[in-house]
Amino acid sequence: MEVGHIPVLAGEVITMLAAAPGSLQIDATLGGGGHTERILEATRPDGRLLGLDADGAAIARVSDRLRPRFGDRLVVRKANFRDLATVAPAAGFSAVDGALFDLGLSSEQLADTDRGFGFRAGGPLDMRFDTSRGVPASELLATLDAAELLALFRRYGEEPKAGRIARAVVEARRTAPITTAEELAALIERVAPPNPRIPRRTHPATRVFQALRIAVNEELESLELGLTAALDLLRPGGRLVVLSYHSLEDRIVKRFIAAERRGCLCPPSVPVCVCGREPRLRLITSPSLTPGEAEIAANPRARSARLRAAERLAA
Ligand SMILES: C[S@@+](CC[C@H](N)C(=O)[O-])C[C@H]1O[C@@H](n2cnc3c(N)ncnc32)[C@H](O)[C@@H]1O
Repeated sequence: MEVGHIPVLAGEVITMLAAAPGSLQIDATLGGGGHTERILEATRPDGRLLGLDADGAAIARVSDRLRPRFGDRLVVRKANFRDLATVAPAAGFSAVDGALFDLGLSSEQLADTDRGFGFRAGGPLDMRFDTSRGVPASELLATLDAAELLALFRRYGEEPKAGRIARAVVEARRTAPITTAEELAALIERVAPPNPRIPRRTHPATRVFQALRIAVNEELESLELGLTAALDLLRPGGRLVVLSYHSLEDRIVKRFIAAERRGCLCPPSVPVCVCGREPRLRLITSPSLTPGEAEIAANPRARSARLRAAERLAA
């Protein structure tokens, strides 16, 4: 039985990857290994998969669970997918048939009371996928000034009450540093309470938590680098499949695919292409795929998911 993270749009991911026996696949975001498990089943008996996660705990959990069943067909590396261009060839995956990115965080991370990802689970405000690099979220809250905090909450959280929350953080830390997820969630609830007349599905702290997580993990920069590296690794006919969970990351995916479908980088003022750049992707999902009501009812985390897939062209 599968406990913990439930893979989102699992059937659609396998269809879009066209994962065939004998193929080489990359799962750039192992998480609980739910998609990986299905890809390894679909590529029986000899398909191989390289699974990455920046979080060492995810790597250990997936290895324990899946290596006994799949043996050498599963290769795992603790790595950020922004480093795919070096990590994949070093692991023997220099030309692959499919690459999956299932962005964001796993249910295991959200429930981990030592990581501070979720305001419900609580715990020290860290929020790093890889706790050996970078700085925890609590340090950003302690060091950024009000204008910087406002810009962060607005840019990465699209938080309409960013100014009010930023000022409250600066005010609160004069007395004591904000070090736990509970403290931050309570502060936001106090200074930016939900309007009782507007029904909301999310907690008032959702956007600020998202903003801090994106910032400490440099998520948007990593995504751009990871997509570019994955495309370079794909064989002609290979598939790129990306699941995103909020508009900031989906915008990057959409623009990346659009640019690679277009190829040419010449400005519109140039009448004939001089850059010579050929299209490298063909879009498969038009429109993008989203989970149906039944999946959302069974797995509320799927609610905001959007799947985009494209196929590598020969160029
Ligand atoms: C939504 S979960 C993946 C769930 C997985 N597909 C499953 O079915 O269980 C996302 C995972 O990606 C990892 N992650 C996020 N950004 C990453 C990055 N830049 N490099 C490597 N791993 C990353 C997180 O640590 C998390 O474990």
